[in-house]
Amino acid sequence: MSDNTAKLSLGGETYEFPVLAGTVGPDVIDIRSLYAKTGLFTYDPGFTSTAACDSAITYIDGDVGELLYRGYSIDQLAEKSSYLEVCYLLLYGELPSKAELADFDNRVTRHTMVHEQMHYFYRGFRRDAHPMAIVTGVVGAMAAFYHDSTDISDPQQREIASIRMIAKLPTIVAMAYKYSVGQPFVYPRNDLDYASNFLHMCFAVPAEEYQVNPIVAKAMDRIFTLHADHEQNASTSTVRLSGSSDANPFACIAAGVACLWGPAHGGANEAALNMLRQIGTVDRIPEFIERAKDKNDPFRLMGFGHRVYKNYDPRAAVMQESAREVLGLLGVENNPTLQVAQALEKIALEDPYFVERKLYPNVDFYSGIILDAIGFPTSMFTAIFALSRTVGWIAQWKEMIADPQKKIGRPRQLYNGPVRREYVAMGDR
Ligand code: SDX
Repeated sequence: MSDNTAKLSLGGETYEFPVLAGTVGPDVIDIRSLYAKTGLFTYDPGFTSTAACDSAITYIDGDVGELLYRGYSIDQLAEKSSYLEVCYLLLYGELPSKAELADFDNRVTRHTMVHEQMHYFYRGFRRDAHPMAIVTGVVGAMAAFYHDSTDISDPQQREIASIRMIAKLPTIVAMAYKYSVGQPFVYPRNDLDYASNFLHMCFAVPAEEYQVNPIVAKAMDRIFTLHADHEQNASTSTVRLSGSSDANPFACIAAGVACLWGPAHGGANEAALNMLRQIGTVDRIPEFIERAKDKNDPFRLMGFGHRVYKNYDPRAAVMQESAREVLGLLGVENNPTLQVAQALEKIALEDPYFVERKLYPNVDFYSGIILDAIGFPTSMFTAIFALSRTVGWIAQWKEMIADPQKKIGRPRQLYNGPVRREYVAMGDR
């Protein structure tokens, strides 16, 4: 544990900055007065060494591969809890009593329908639009509908907006899927649990009764839990930065959806399954391992590596176990893609390139295998990630809005453009 000040020697002067300690994890050097004292900025593109806020929601220890939601480990929550219980935990900080969970479940259930006019937005998209393009647009469009829950200075309105987004994202994502396959939208049903309701809205058709497979529903619920929050990742930081200007809450979550779409972030689950299919068979793995190591080849092992985890992503471990269980129960345990994934992981984790760089499978490496077995097209994978992460974005947004120290986020830069110069008339150029 460091002492409580950091000293900076600069130009013959020594400056002192407080070192702040959290409950667990790295201490931080509070440099808020650095510019005022020294006239210098810090420089940290990609924020590899920057804590942008303090938070009490999610803790990650990347060295040991630990992930805690409000202090509870992800493997215990994945095994013993449910997604809605995890939503309650992330939002309010404690596991709910039976009555609290029933009330929360009821509040979410009664907000699952979207305004009927929102159906018209879908008609405006091409049928082959990527579901994430649709979800980004429709979530942003929620800002045009729910005027009674956009005054962010009112805690009650913040709460209603939060419940609406957690409740409606599955409906919006399921509608994007239905639109892409040319089937009619299926309304949510209040007699189904959260995961079953999502599966029913995706796979039911008017022509016949659709029975949700309880094994699949449990796997779906666990996938939601594994993706629910993850500290200050790129999309969460996007939501916080958007929210720091007191922007409309629905617009802030839409910004998070947009950021998550990138293949370096949440889009990696779609890219990982497409990569495993491109590899196709175990004997082609060495060819792709070499490509991933070749600096002249833009190819990377999708679903591998992480900014924080320098050990096995604990979510990937649970996801791999769940993949084996679900595929076995569905009678597709000899799924060739799972075999390629497991062989690829084994070979990569024995290769010095990956070992030296501490590159391990992350949450996106196995999730697509389960989603594919359930029947989703790869284009739906990131939309399902967005649905799952909505509660994390909202919990982090609520924490920021309620923070008495809240300030608009406004980073500076190291400028290396032209110094001041006079305008040159066209005739003199
Ligand atoms: C998510 O932040 C979060 O918490 C995100 C997330 C969440 O829940 O919100 O966990 C979800 O986004 C998981 C990550 C999904 N993305 C991928 O699987 C895409 C593939 N992975 C990478 O692009 C990469 O690992 C990142 C983006 C995830 C992390 O990149 P960093 O931390 O900026 O690391 P880097 O790019 O500087 O890589 C360090 C070294 C480099 O080699 P050298 O320059 O040192 O020689 O490792 C290499 C990289 O070339 N490397 C890889 C690699 N990932 C890193 N080489 C091959 N394949 C890879 N996947």
